[in-house]
Amino acid sequence: MSQIPEMDDDLRPEYDFTSLTVVARGQGRMDYTIRALTGEDGAIVWEMLRYASHEPSLESIQEQPYLARYASGWGRAGDSGCVATRGAVSVAAAWLRLWSEDNKGFGYISKEILELAMAVAPDCRNQGIGTRLLMQLLDRATDRFPAVSLNVRQDNRVVRLYERAGFIKVPASEVINRTGGVSFNMVRKFE
Ligand SMILES: CC(C)(COP(=O)(O)OP(=O)(O)OC[C@H]1O[C@@H](n2cnc3c(N)ncnc32)[C@H](O)[C@@H]1OP(=O)(O)O)[C@@H](O)C(=O)NCCC(=O)NCCS
Repeated sequence: MSQIPEMDDDLRPEYDFTSLTVVARGQGRMDYTIRALTGEDGAIVWEMLRYASHEPSLESIQEQPYLARYASGWGRAGDSGCVATRGAVSVAAAWLRLWSEDNKGFGYISKEILELAMAVAPDCRNQGIGTRLLMQLLDRATDRFPAVSLNVRQDNRVVRLYERAGFIKVPASEVINRTGGVSFNMVRKFE
């Protein structure tokens, strides 16, 4: 396993600018640019966290520290991610954070394993953007980390996307989540 990188290496602004053209249902072709998130992109991470956590507003996330920690202090060591933009608008992001024994994300497995969060703006879903962002992130993490984990609601159909990307359910990881439903962890191992 490689060493955990420092922030400067991890949030390389020049990383991987790519174009993505999708055919959106009923809307013709749409062009997106995918680029790495930098340490300056905290606002994008907050916005996308709102979608990922199904919360109505930024304020409601900020009142819930266990949700807010997925965006707060964005740019710390171990953070990395990518964002899809359409013109000047950010429409999707996927990002990875490391946790510690003292500060565990919902999907925490160990301090060397990154946890994934991702979201696509509602009007841009089901066009392959989330899959594309996820594959780019996994590609980048594969040589440097043993695995990527995540926490997901059992009834979220995104589980199918994660399975297609090679994630498997972590046995006995089911917990009752904050909405009273069941969530569990998934992991994508690289070795
Ligand atoms: C989940 C999400 C990031 C996927 O991105 P996307 O660009 O829509 O996905 P793609 O077009 O690449 O792939 C389609 C797959 O995404 C998932 N998906 C699509 N729309 C979704 C939605 N509204 N909610 C949950 N998952 C969805 C499904 O697995 C779908 O595959 P399927 O057609 O076999 O069911 C995006 O739909 C989203 O932001 N949903 C709401 C937030 C969320 O649930 N985030 C994950 C938290 S763990």
